[in-house]
Amino acid sequence: MTEHDFIPGAAGELPESGSFRWEAPSNIALVKYWGKKAGQIPMNPSVSFTLHTCSTQTELRCRKSGTPSGTPSFEVFLEGSPAPHFREKIQSFFERILPFQPFLSGYAFEIHTENTFPHSSGIASSASGMAALALGLMDLEQVIYPDMPPEFFHRKASFLARLGSGSAARSVGGNLVQWGAHESVPGSSDLFGIGYPLPVHSVFRSFRDTILLVDKGQKQVSSTAGHGLMQGHPYANARFDQATSRIEALQPILEKGDLQAFIELVESEALTLHAMMMTSSPYYILMKPATLRILEHIREFRESANEPVCFTLDAGANVHVLYPEESHEKVYAFIKDTLLPFCQDGQHICDRVGSGAKRL
Ligand code: DP6
Repeated sequence: MTEHDFIPGAAGELPESGSFRWEAPSNIALVKYWGKKAGQIPMNPSVSFTLHTCSTQTELRCRKSGTPSGTPSFEVFLEGSPAPHFREKIQSFFERILPFQPFLSGYAFEIHTENTFPHSSGIASSASGMAALALGLMDLEQVIYPDMPPEFFHRKASFLARLGSGSAARSVGGNLVQWGAHESVPGSSDLFGIGYPLPVHSVFRSFRDTILLVDKGQKQVSSTAGHGLMQGHPYANARFDQATSRIEALQPILEKGDLQAFIELVESEALTLHAMMMTSSPYYILMKPATLRILEHIREFRESANEPVCFTLDAGANVHVLYPEESHEKVYAFIKDTLLPFCQDGQHICDRVGSGAKRL
């Protein structure tokens, strides 16, 4: 598919108004996306677990607004209060998606959104938020073009979400999602995420992710600025090649349920992401002392208790602790005793692999 396939034909009668509600999950990348080209095209493919508990619920209300012209007007509310800090991101989202949903210009929108995770927890809401918004906009498109097939609906939702935030392309579908073209993954595309189409061992269908909130402060660097620092980065090409080959390396790991190899790959991905940030110019050190202590404790526990537990990281100080469902009792006891003292007020979120966005 090309971008062109997402440009709709002439619209018929536009509905006067509508209201659409979606819940979209957050996701955690196993192979990381870090570095992009113009048009939100990733420098390498990525694969993520879709989460179950961390999600955004968005109600999109629209009404026809007279003569269509340019990007639509909109108001955005977070938990019932005006949220002007989201305006800029949503404005540029509407500008990017307008060629693919030209009917938007005839509408005014109200966007009411809330997250299941705490405010400023350091957990990015852009992936789940953009996915939930894109799905609401697809509901409007579906009313205007009622014959749209479900597969196209979901693909285009991921395509639009990507234009809001790259990782949002992976927050529409469930379980495991690949975004980014790779010759070994049938149907994979730089334009949208797809449900991982290769065999996956049952152990990964119920994986746990306990998210440790180490630092709830504002991000030091926006993801977009961070991606930009990969341009001209001395290790960029080696990193993109590494991630691309890891997409292939992950396949037998996921198929066989090879937890040892999974741990090695996933932890190295997290540390490589941070190594890229630490070696960019300017550099960023986003891990905190507590992050490092947690990583050390996870490694020690894994060796002493012989439990297949590992960590991954986003572009921040929080730690995602990944482990199979059957290890839950032992690993969670370890988390409570040893790791929670490193979290702000002991805060953490018990999450697990989830099945994707839902219409509410
Ligand atoms: C470190 O998707 O937040 O979480 O496309 O600029 O919105 P933009 O960036 P974003 O980048 C996320 C990067 C990451 C790794 C990942 O999720 O793959």
